[in-house]
Amino acid sequence: MTLNPTRTGFLPVLRRMGAEVDVEETGEDAEPRGDLVVRGSSLRSTVIEGREVPTLLDEIPLLAVAAARAEGVTRIRGAGELRLKESDRLAAVAANLRAIGVSVEEYSDGLEIEGTDRPLSGRVDTYGDHRVEMAFGVLAATPGTELEIAGPPAAAVSFPGFWDTLSRLTAGAVAAPGPVRAAGRRPVVTIDGPAGSGKSTTARTVAERLGLVHLDSGALYRAITLATLRSGVTDDELATLTPQAWRDFGVGVGAKGGRLEVRIGGSAVPDADLRSPEVTARVSRVAALPSVRECLFDLQRSAAAQGGLVADGRDMGTIVFPDADVKVFLTADLEERARRRLLETGGALEDADGITGAAAELQRRDFQDTHREHSPLRLPEGAVVIDTTDRTLDEQIAEVIRLVRAAESAHGA
Ligand code: DC
Repeated sequence: MTLNPTRTGFLPVLRRMGAEVDVEETGEDAEPRGDLVVRGSSLRSTVIEGREVPTLLDEIPLLAVAAARAEGVTRIRGAGELRLKESDRLAAVAANLRAIGVSVEEYSDGLEIEGTDRPLSGRVDTYGDHRVEMAFGVLAATPGTELEIAGPPAAAVSFPGFWDTLSRLTAGAVAAPGPVRAAGRRPVVTIDGPAGSGKSTTARTVAERLGLVHLDSGALYRAITLATLRSGVTDDELATLTPQAWRDFGVGVGAKGGRLEVRIGGSAVPDADLRSPEVTARVSRVAALPSVRECLFDLQRSAAAQGGLVADGRDMGTIVFPDADVKVFLTADLEERARRRLLETGGALEDADGITGAAAELQRRDFQDTHREHSPLRLPEGAVVIDTTDRTLDEQIAEVIRLVRAAESAHGA
């Protein structure tokens, strides 16, 4: 390989991460050349930024997958240029890593990747980009990793024979990308259920693992509520707003790195603003208004028209997507939901009064949700009920993924 010093910036980074890499120089033609001798070793996280970035820009997808297997959080910054390559490489790498269970934060110019030694599995996409394809090919060849690589093959652009070589090195365990799956229609999956049943976490994780976008319908009701607060609309004025006035608040969604980001007037809304006490205090009044619901139904359905999604909320399978491919209804005993709520809000399980209080609050929510006039919580027709009382979150996520895969293969996707 070339040892041109402007192209080997990734070697010191790999060494800094604990990799044992030796260079054996083999001579020089137009530029210095040599072989790499690499021995297996465990990796630790690092920071990649500043002047070294231009010397390793093309190798960032590879360093990112190494970071997924390193101990600690690796920070990559100053690499915004990667968004303008054959694919938006930062978004592609982040979406792929999330799809197989790695925690990733995406920034305009970089990534923060939390390394893990847990088994990694799921489907990733080449995005038609040779660097992305090869990086995930290398990850697929590491122990404890089971990846299905889909999307247009592109590795031959810079390394003809990449997959043959990798397949030989792994005794056939790693295969070249499968056919382009985009040809099949992606499924619409709805997850309904009462408060505290684990809808949102399940929906978010299932979407990440299956490479679908996640529609958090509650976040839309929160966003339109936030818009009323920002515009100084009083509680009494809420019921007087026309359907057009609700649309004029400009609440929308946009795909960003595999996620559906909630926007107001085209700008992303921080999660902390959506969950502020002011929004939480007003949102159920806003969500009860039929003109608001109509406005958001259209938005939710158009999000699904762009491809499959996983949507969670109280009326996803009943009203918004009655023809969804897979409908799930999550339930759990009141006491178990109360325990989960208490933990979510920072409480301790030994606090018996805390559990009783959380249970009373959930019972009140259940009554409101099932008795409200518009879009009450109901078991959707054709939904599969999953009682999560005695299941771990991982088990319920695996169960939903199994249902989606079964529906996909039944439809020949
Ligand atoms: O799930 P959440 O707490 O973010 O929901 C916020 C509010 O929006 C809550 O009052 C219920 C309401 N909501 C709704 O009416 N229909 C949905 N599909 C989702 C949420």
